[in-house]
Amino acid sequence: MKILVLGGHGFFGKNLVHSLCNTPHQIFAYSRRNGLDLTDYKSTWDCLREIQPDVIYNCAAHVGGLHYVAQYPADILADNLQMSLNLYRAAEVTCPSVLVINPLSNCSYPGHQEVYRESEWLKGEVHPSIYAYGNAKRALYTLSRCYSTQYGIKTYNFLVPNVFGPGDATDPNKVHALNGMIIRMLAAKWNHSSQFEIWGTGTPIREWIYIEDVVNLLTEALTLDVDLRHPINLAQKHGYSIRSSAELIAKAIAYKGKLVFKTEYQDGAPQKIMDDQQFKRVFPSYQFTDHYAAICKTVDYYQSVLSPTITPLLHY
Ligand SMILES: NC(=O)c1ccc[n+]([C@@H]2O[C@H](COP(=O)([O-])OP(=O)(O)OC[C@H]3O[C@@H](n4cnc5c(N)ncnc54)[C@H](OP(=O)(O)O)[C@@H]3O)[C@@H](O)[C@H]2O)c1
Repeated sequence: MKILVLGGHGFFGKNLVHSLCNTPHQIFAYSRRNGLDLTDYKSTWDCLREIQPDVIYNCAAHVGGLHYVAQYPADILADNLQMSLNLYRAAEVTCPSVLVINPLSNCSYPGHQEVYRESEWLKGEVHPSIYAYGNAKRALYTLSRCYSTQYGIKTYNFLVPNVFGPGDATDPNKVHALNGMIIRMLAAKWNHSSQFEIWGTGTPIREWIYIEDVVNLLTEALTLDVDLRHPINLAQKHGYSIRSSAELIAKAIAYKGKLVFKTEYQDGAPQKIMDDQQFKRVFPSYQFTDHYAAICKTVDYYQSVLSPTITPLLHY
C-alpha cells in the first residue's frame, strides 16, 4: 500500500514513519518542511493527486501548549479547520477510496468529565482553556462522518490521551506535559538545584500513553476491519498522580533534590482517565509499555539531545 503520513516530521509523524519503514508498504512523509501546506487547497490537492495514497495518517495540526492555545485561539481554530477541510475535499476528488486515520486528542472531551467514555464524548463543552483546539478536533470528526456518508470516504478516529516519549519538541511552548517535566528536572539536576517545584498538591491523576504504544496501535489499525467512524479511546483506564510521575522521573534521572509541591496553585480535576471498554473490543490483546520503562527511555532521549551546557535549558 501507499501510506501518506501528514505531519510526517512532527512528534507523532516521525515516530510513525520510523515504525512504518519496517513494513512492506511505501511510505511518504509530508509537512510544510518539504513543501506541503495543508491550509492551501491547491497544495493539498497536488500532494494527494501525486501520491494517490491508500492510507493517510493525519498527524498534521497547528498545535501548542496551554499558554499558546489560550493566546492564539482564532489562528488555531481557523488553521485546523482549513487543514481538515482541505484534506477531505482533496481526498474526495483525488483518492476517494483512501482510509484516513485521525489521532484526536482527549482534550476534545467535555471539560467536566473525569472518566472519558466515548458515548459521552460530545455531551458537554470542551474546557475553556483549550476551547479552540478541542473544538477543531470535534469538527474534524464531523467532517469525517459527513464525507463518509456522502462520498464513502473511510476514516478511523482515535481519541488519544496525553502522549510522552522520544521525538517530542524541546521548546517549552510546544513540549507535552510529562516530557516538559523531564526536561525541567534534567535542568534542575544539571543546575545543581536542591529542589524541584511542581504546581499544586501533586494528587491529580492523569492518564498517559507512551509514543511507541500510539505508533504500535496506529500501525495495527491498518489490519482492522471495523467501523471506527465514531472514535474510540486508546485507553488503559489507568492514570498516575502527578506526584508519582515526578517521583519516577526523579528516579530515572537520579535527581537527588527535594520535590516541592506548591499548594498555593490550584489542582485541576482530581482525575482524568479514559474508559477502555471499546479499546479492549478492538485491540483485545494489546500490552502497553510499562510506565517506568517508558519514562527511562524518554529520559535517555532527552539526555542525548540536550546538553548540560545549553544555557537556556538551565533557565527552563
Ligand atoms: N501529542 C499529544 O499529546 C497528542 C495527543 C492526542 C492527539 N494528538 C494529535 O496528534 C497529531 C500530531 O500531534 P504532534 O504532537 O505530533 O504535533 P507536532 O509535533 O506539532 O506535529 C505537527 C505536524 O504538523 C505539521 N504541520 C503543521 N501545520 C501544517 C500545515 N499547514 N501544512 C502541513 N503540515 C503542517 C508540522 O510540520 P511543519 O511545522 O514542518 O509543517 C508537524 O509535522 C495532532 O493532530 C494532535 O492533535 C497529539
